[in-house]
Amino acid sequence: MAIPPGFLDELRNRVSVSEIVGKRVKLTKKGREHSGLCPFHNEKSPSFTVNDDKGFYHCFGCGAHGSALDFLINTEGLTFPEAVERLALQAGMDVPQDTPEQRERSEKRNTLYDVMEHATLYYERALKMPEGKIGLQYLKNRGLSENTIKHFRLGYSPNIKGGLVAALKREGIDERLMIEAGLLIQPDDRARSPYERFRERVMFPITDRRGKVIAFGGRLLGDGKPKYLNSPDTPLFHKGTVLYGLAQARESAHKKEEIIVTEGYMDVIALAQGGFPNAVAPLGTALTEDQIQLLWRMSRRPTLCFDGDAAGQRAAARGAERALPHLKPGFGLKFVHLPEGEDPDSLIKKHGSDAMQTLLDKAIPLSELLWRMESEGINLDTAEDRAYLEDQLKKHAFQIEDESVKSHFLAALKDRIWNEIRAKKDSKPFQRKRDWRAEKKNHRTHLEAKSSLNTKINAQNWRETLLLAAVILHPNIIDEVGERLGLLNFMSDSLDNLRQEVLKTLDGDLGLDSSALQDHLVKNGFSGPLKSLLGKFHAPNGGKFIGHETFLHPDRPIDVVLRGWDHTFTLYMNQRDLATEFKELKRRLELEMTPQALSQFQAHQKLMGMVDTDEDETGGYSFKLNEEDLFD
Ligand code: UTP
Ligand code: MN
Repeated sequence: MAIPPGFLDELRNRVSVSEIVGKRVKLTKKGREHSGLCPFHNEKSPSFTVNDDKGFYHCFGCGAHGSALDFLINTEGLTFPEAVERLALQAGMDVPQDTPEQRERSEKRNTLYDVMEHATLYYERALKMPEGKIGLQYLKNRGLSENTIKHFRLGYSPNIKGGLVAALKREGIDERLMIEAGLLIQPDDRARSPYERFRERVMFPITDRRGKVIAFGGRLLGDGKPKYLNSPDTPLFHKGTVLYGLAQARESAHKKEEIIVTEGYMDVIALAQGGFPNAVAPLGTALTEDQIQLLWRMSRRPTLCFDGDAAGQRAAARGAERALPHLKPGFGLKFVHLPEGEDPDSLIKKHGSDAMQTLLDKAIPLSELLWRMESEGINLDTAEDRAYLEDQLKKHAFQIEDESVKSHFLAALKDRIWNEIRAKKDSKPFQRKRDWRAEKKNHRTHLEAKSSLNTKINAQNWRETLLLAAVILHPNIIDEVGERLGLLNFMSDSLDNLRQEVLKTLDGDLGLDSSALQDHLVKNGFSGPLKSLLGKFHAPNGGKFIGHETFLHPDRPIDVVLRGWDHTFTLYMNQRDLATEFKELKRRLELEMTPQALSQFQAHQKLMGMVDTDEDETGGYSFKLNEEDLFD
């Protein structure tokens, strides 16, 4: 099967090597590279690296080396076409059938790159000729240096009748291809001859991430309309998937793990010249999902710049809305508001790069942006307004698909509302007459609540320990419990990190037994948390199993382990929701000691007590729940 080369390029663009390798090898990101234990030879410390920029993996131990396709071929014994198919599946692309039409299409793509390259050269040359002098003057007046002009390959489309066509024909390029590339426009009246799309405009080549020119933006020198004219969509160019300046910004964005997103071509260029080479722009439209995913490959928190005017605010809001559903742990957006009427280009020109840097340093996270958007003009003194605000913010949070991000987001927003209210109360402390008796009572309730809450938290922590220990000691239950364990979010960071590592390790490695799993955890730096976890069940130095939780015992059959796990999970979940609610009610009670809040609080306390009684029904597999004793 002959696979069109254009298709392979596209595949490489869409799927990173680390995504493929990461399915087989636990990779750790170190700067611009990932590293892990080499799957091609036996080793204890990682000498295997993956570089997404360069598109290959390399092992310094055994010399194994190749692309994502090679990796599939070498680790899974796939043939080349099979590997292509697998990769395509991953990228959501159809493998082109090797029909003559397909071959023609991919060859055309390749020639279209050629057409665009020659057009770029033509426009670049024209900028240096008398016909382009006016364009060069324009760029210089806007403060661009020779170097910047060269770096972004800026050019000029002179008004020379037939100039572009003649230049490209000399390269053997057919007029039909120039039309397909969007350089010429064929009038509806076929009798008339095609004419150049861009005339008397400064030309901004738009490239793919590798730097191949796929489209142009052309700016009028004066005030006419449209100010910028862009190439139409062509087989090479799909507006929503491209970011202007990406090829130039990629390296520094990766290095700094920071990428700046602005609105205009000139902003990207002015930023680069002003010392911010890591800037890109969408092509005059709101950021698409594809573009956001592209940005997240370079930085976990891209910074979006918006004009402080109303339109800029709306654009920021659209950016936020687009990103919300796709937020995943560790990935977000930051927002910078520029003074009204300024863009990075004008700001740097007027106030210098330092001013730009100061603004970048003040970027706010997505959650803060939503907060500011929604809380504007809302008076937090009235319950109705608070409820409304909470509702609005929840609507945003519910867009988030990732459960863990969603719950953190919701919690943070709630916290924020309460903090604001508290801040308001604190700022007017003398408004309420002090009622000593009520305060004393309040204080007592508070203390009771606190100690009861601590007990609950310890109990919950112990259950988390059990849920995780069960999986580490009996990895074969992962099939049954993996999904539920994946949804949880343990209270202690170190236990939660261990949970995530266990899940990651077992994902796809169904055969792993407990000792192999423990080996892996130790090798990956989890020896401390692992020891402290298992130490709760074993005599010192990995000796005899001494836990009361006999369902965890290494000799127990899988059904007993599963029953114990299910039971623990149910208790944990009942308590978890109640505990969150409880905390919330407690906080409310602290804020305002109303009879209503108090009775809600007390009802809840009772409810939690009722769940506790469940713990005595331990069934026939000896589930000892003297948790306070066991914990610590
Ligand atoms: P702006 O009008 O903010 O552009 O549009 P700018 O880059 O600041 O332009 P200058 O400084 O006046 O030269 C932002 C982006 O929107 C797209 C372009 O991508 C532009 O960079 N745009 C704008 C168009 O595609 N067509 C237009 O007519 C205007
Ligand atoms: Mn501008």
